[in-house]
Amino acid sequence: MKLNSLTDTHFHLNSEDDIEEIIKRARDNNVENLILSCCDLKNIEELLEIINRYPNIYLTIGLHPDEIDSFNDTTITYFEKLIKSNQKIIGIGEIGLDYYHNKDNKKEQIKLFKEQLDLAKKLDMPVIIHSREATNDTINILKEYKLKTTIHCFTGSLEIAKMYIKEGYLLGIGGVSTFKNTNLKETLKYIPLENIVLETDSPYLSPEPFRGVKNEPKNISIICENLANIKGISLEEVIKITTNNVVNQYKRLG
Ligand code: NI
Repeated sequence: MKLNSLTDTHFHLNSEDDIEEIIKRARDNNVENLILSCCDLKNIEELLEIINRYPNIYLTIGLHPDEIDSFNDTTITYFEKLIKSNQKIIGIGEIGLDYYHNKDNKKEQIKLFKEQLDLAKKLDMPVIIHSREATNDTINILKEYKLKTTIHCFTGSLEIAKMYIKEGYLLGIGGVSTFKNTNLKETLKYIPLENIVLETDSPYLSPEPFRGVKNEPKNISIICENLANIKGISLEEVIKITTNNVVNQYKRLG
């Protein structure tokens, strides 16, 4: 980890992406630390190969609620084996609840979520949470576990932010914070920098002025600059504190 550089705490890769070019463009924008998010079972081997090849790329693994159909009896033991055998897998995620895409299978989603939280507890791993139209269930379930937690792609109200902050969670802030029509800008004024990590969620959710264009880790620099403007502080301060938050959250980085 380079502490005086930016960190993209959450991005995705597809087979057709040119990782060398993505790293180069990120580096040109002082984004040196990259955390890949794998949330299905399809390209996990490919991503393991990438983290073994590049020292500055780390991985989190988990089964996203939208991928529930691929969940079976072997999933959890498979994740456990991978986590135990590779120190560059630093967290479990993204996992969680998505009642926007499907609210007819709440029970099954909660089961999948809890089994992965149990694994995180057992292995003492931090978790990365996807929660969409499921805030109450997410908070109530997470409270039972007391894990180091990051709320991925936080776009909620100040009231919800305060509930998460009270539990000591980190909020993943990305491209949405740069959109013209968002309340998030106002909310961010009141969220301590100590509770924020930066993420692109690329290839999705490009920041302004690149909305509609494929997102990349390099755009963390835009998200950082926007946050520095909102808070009226220097870029250096945002870089220092947000990357420090990452190091404190993921003990396998230390
Ligand atoms: Ni994601």
